[in-house]
Amino acid sequence: VNIPDLIRKKRDGETHTKQELETLVLGYTRGDVPDYQMSAWLMAVFLRGMAEQETADLTMVMAESGDLMNLGDLPRTVDKHSTGGVGDKTSLILTPMLAALGQTVAKMSGRGLAHTGGTIDKLESIPGWTSELDEDHFIAQAREIGLALVGQSRDLAPADGKLYALRDVTATVDCLPLIASSIMSKKLASGAHTVVLDVKVGAGAFMRTLDAGRGLARAMVDIGNRAGRQVRAVLTDMDTPLGHMAGNSLEVLEALATLRGEGPQDLTDLCVALAVEALAAQGEDEAQARERALATLHDGSALAKFRAFVAAQGGDATYVDDVTKFDVAPGRADVTATESGFVAGIDALSVGRAVLALGGGRERKGEAIDHGVGVELLRKPGEAVQAGESVIRIYHRGARGLEVAQRLLAEGLSVSAQAPAPEPLILDRVF
Ligand code: URA
Repeated sequence: VNIPDLIRKKRDGETHTKQELETLVLGYTRGDVPDYQMSAWLMAVFLRGMAEQETADLTMVMAESGDLMNLGDLPRTVDKHSTGGVGDKTSLILTPMLAALGQTVAKMSGRGLAHTGGTIDKLESIPGWTSELDEDHFIAQAREIGLALVGQSRDLAPADGKLYALRDVTATVDCLPLIASSIMSKKLASGAHTVVLDVKVGAGAFMRTLDAGRGLARAMVDIGNRAGRQVRAVLTDMDTPLGHMAGNSLEVLEALATLRGEGPQDLTDLCVALAVEALAAQGEDEAQARERALATLHDGSALAKFRAFVAAQGGDATYVDDVTKFDVAPGRADVTATESGFVAGIDALSVGRAVLALGGGRERKGEAIDHGVGVELLRKPGEAVQAGESVIRIYHRGARGLEVAQRLLAEGLSVSAQAPAPEPLILDRVF
């Protein structure tokens, strides 16, 4: 088959057959189709979109590019995925919560994508921790401690592993069929029966409007249902970063505080809400599920699961209890309010791009990242502030990206005379 013909077909807005998608995607995964042709095809998909059936076919081709994990007799298997946000360290908290609630979490995660962070990059802030588990280890660990987390590999959704890295650096991330197939191929390959999706909406998300978010949620829920999975999606606000920290090590620190019951309210609320969705999908009463989920953050059970999980995947678990061990960049620079009033907005996209500029994410495929840099929101929207007071703190290592980060963050900060109306965190549910 002639690859340029397939690129041309999509460029002209036509619909691929499943066989054509196999030719392209499996050819790329094998290394027969080069990056430049795949980049052109991705851009054509970005500009032309995909039909519903075509998106479902692409998802299956990607899921079947490797093994489909059989979780067999494992009890209450559950998985979670976010469409990508800034400061979104939810998986680090929610997955041990679910394990502490007697669920079996068998999850496939990704790395940072564009201006958003990724669970694997965050966890690699802990020395030794690895996402490279073979299937037997993954299943045995899920059975033993109720929580195992892998990355894409040669065996598991390898097509997504390669496409994800290419999309990250070719401006082809924020595209409904590419996000839906990327996420759902991982969820289908890793095998869990119940899947909870956190669809981010707003300035720092790939879906800017609630309508676009609903469309993505619907597409993913339908793909999952068609494959026999129980899927629920929650649409949540991503105009402002979640919690106070953005950047890899800083986010793990905030996740650990939340697992100790000392996390910020928005982050804690979201983790509890997602746990409730997972339990309610299996028939549990919502009020009871909420109470049980919250308890795991106060009785040490979720933290204990996280510690066991880190150790099981090769990580130095002493980091969990001695957080001074984390390599946090030593430089500090603050962005201050230029007038008195209330913080009206802190643009999540600006924060994500600032972290990227500091070296916390990738601009080229496979690039090493700096886990220690990042941004702390000292104040969140709605809080009062005086002119000259610090609102945002940058953790940096000297020159790299500092000026760019300062400019982005100053542009993304707005202060108003009146307190802004509080925005709900959870915007809608789809199932
Ligand atoms: N998360 C993923 O795994 N894939 C995407 O495309 C976006 C977010």
